[in-house]
Amino acid sequence: MAEIKAIVYESNTGFTKEYAELLSEIIGIPAIPTIDNSMFYGEREPVIFLGWVCAGKINGFRMARLKFNPVIIAGVGMTPQSDKYAFALAQQNNIDVPFYYLQGGIHRERLKGFYKMMFRLVVRPVLRKARKGKSELSEYEKQMVDLIKNGGSFVKRENLNDLIAKYRELAEILRQS
Ligand SMILES: Cc1cc2nc3c(=O)[nH]c(=O)nc-3n(C[C@H](O)[C@H](O)[C@H](O)COP(=O)(O)O)c2cc1C
Repeated sequence: MAEIKAIVYESNTGFTKEYAELLSEIIGIPAIPTIDNSMFYGEREPVIFLGWVCAGKINGFRMARLKFNPVIIAGVGMTPQSDKYAFALAQQNNIDVPFYYLQGGIHRERLKGFYKMMFRLVVRPVLRKARKGKSELSEYEKQMVDLIKNGGSFVKRENLNDLIAKYRELAEILRQS
């Protein structure tokens, strides 16, 4: 297999882009948005793919899988960092290569049109529960309500640690083969 030469990403409000650029800085390979068609890159080449999570789906992943060979994948969502959530996302999206979940955040002011409307639907159940009584909310739900209402960023360099370790391991194997 050829070397991994790019990080391909799909971002709507900027958090996935931030992670892709941070990763690019650390491992020294370029971060390229999926909408960039001027890619120097050949078809079906191995890439790291990062996509934002939309109602449980990793956005851009279907196209990326057709065009490239994603060997490491990450989903960026608002859900707090959790191995359980990472496992569920990998299953839901039929991912059979190393997968990582990274907490991004919420930029409500950057949500437009269809996604703005869809976001309201996605968060409605937890907001409804919050209106009924805050004391009934779990700690996790309280965090989510605060994030949904006030927005915020949870992008952290350390969230990328496991992904970077896997990249280095794979890059070493590819270098030796
Ligand atoms: C319509 C919509 C659906 C979403 N669904 C989920 C979801 O299922 N799980 C999750 O963790 N985050 C969900 N989010 C939150 C985004 O994944 C989160 O804001 C992410 O950081 C966006 O990344 P981006 O800035 O690169 O677009 C959703 C956001 C929108 C707008």
